[in-house]
Amino acid sequence: MIKIMIVMGTRPEAIKLVPVVKELKNRPDTSTVVVATGQHREMLDQVLGLFLIKPDFKLNLMIPNQTLFHVTGKAILGFESVLDSADPDVILVQGDTTTSFIGGLAGFYRQIPVGHVEAGLRTGDKYSPFPEEINRKMLSVLTDYHFAPTIRNRDNLLNEGVSDERIIVTGNTGIDTLFMTVNKDYHHEFLTDYHYDRLILMTAHRRENFGMPMRCIFEAVANLARRNPGFLIVYPVHLNQNVQQPAHQILGEIANVRLLDPLSYYPFVNLMAKADLILTDSGGIQEEAPSLGKPVLVLRNETERPEAVEAGTVKMVGTDRERIVAESERILYDEKVYQGMARAHNPYGDGKSAPRIVDFLLKQLNGC
Ligand code: UD1
Ligand code: UDP
Repeated sequence: MIKIMIVMGTRPEAIKLVPVVKELKNRPDTSTVVVATGQHREMLDQVLGLFLIKPDFKLNLMIPNQTLFHVTGKAILGFESVLDSADPDVILVQGDTTTSFIGGLAGFYRQIPVGHVEAGLRTGDKYSPFPEEINRKMLSVLTDYHFAPTIRNRDNLLNEGVSDERIIVTGNTGIDTLFMTVNKDYHHEFLTDYHYDRLILMTAHRRENFGMPMRCIFEAVANLARRNPGFLIVYPVHLNQNVQQPAHQILGEIANVRLLDPLSYYPFVNLMAKADLILTDSGGIQEEAPSLGKPVLVLRNETERPEAVEAGTVKMVGTDRERIVAESERILYDEKVYQGMARAHNPYGDGKSAPRIVDFLLKQLNGC
């Protein structure tokens, strides 16, 4: 019996590990131990509840406005006691959060092999995204099995000296989850309260955008809404106070901007499927939107996900007030530009990433 520990702490890790947990539960001679660090609380519980995942260990480490020091310190000690009792054969982590990095580090400290789901994404800029670029680079150094979503991600790892036989290109498991969740008949009650010509969905949460860049984003969105009363902008606001406070202050009183609490994944992706345009600094949404054929403006200056930019569905606009407004209006008023971007394609996966990951992992662990 092979015992596989799966580590998750934030909303996107849970969303992207759901298909892996489900796949492992269907395999003979394997057992799973799910560890939820609780780096996120409500936003993680939303995903675990939706997909009926019951963690075997919960570290409950979130406190309001936590620092990177707090999360790192509490997590590494939490993993020590989990590993004392769980004793897994391998540890799987996902992405580039502090939970992922510390989960991998804990495996290394105990000399337990580590598998990294969503390996090899890079911007090349140490502070962007912060601290994720360095979290994922440090993970690549200590990881044994690298699950790279795209060929480009594999090439990044090869360029850093990772050996080819330790890497497999799998696609992104987030697309597996997306495909099992999108339902074209999903009905959003709150949308019927509004008359609108175009629906814009937005999200923002990146640490490097806190302060002035985030205020610039919100002022741009306020301006976009005021200039275009026919646009409805729906924004489920991340629970981080660095986001909540300026979002409510700048956007709270605008009639055609609807601020919501974070949406559960099921209504969220089905809202994405209904939107005309997405404004975001999220990593996961940059991957999901192309599969749904939705144009995206990325509120960042760099991306570790250039595949959809090259294909034309995603455009980088940074945090400049005028640029965000001008590019949004260009897409929504120029049908040719819109059609050029709104093409469904799957640069990040075909929805079958989880079985590839599990096949590769079990083959490595079984030795044949
Ligand atoms: C974290 C990850 C980021 C990931 C993002 C996904 C790190 C350093 N950051 O950023 O890589 O893209 O999650 O959303 O790993 N909060 C709540 N309830 C929740 C979640 C958050 O109240 O369910 C508030 C708390 O005040 C918490 C704060 O948000 O202290 C920040 O959470 P944290 O996980 O440190 O940072 P994120 O910005 O969410
Ligand atoms: N998401 C969600 N509810 C929301 C906003 C986003 O379920 O209100 C989902 C989204 O579909 C994607 C993931 O959360 O799968 C992205 O998470 P986030 O943007 O917080 O993190 P990132 O991907 O940037 O690390």
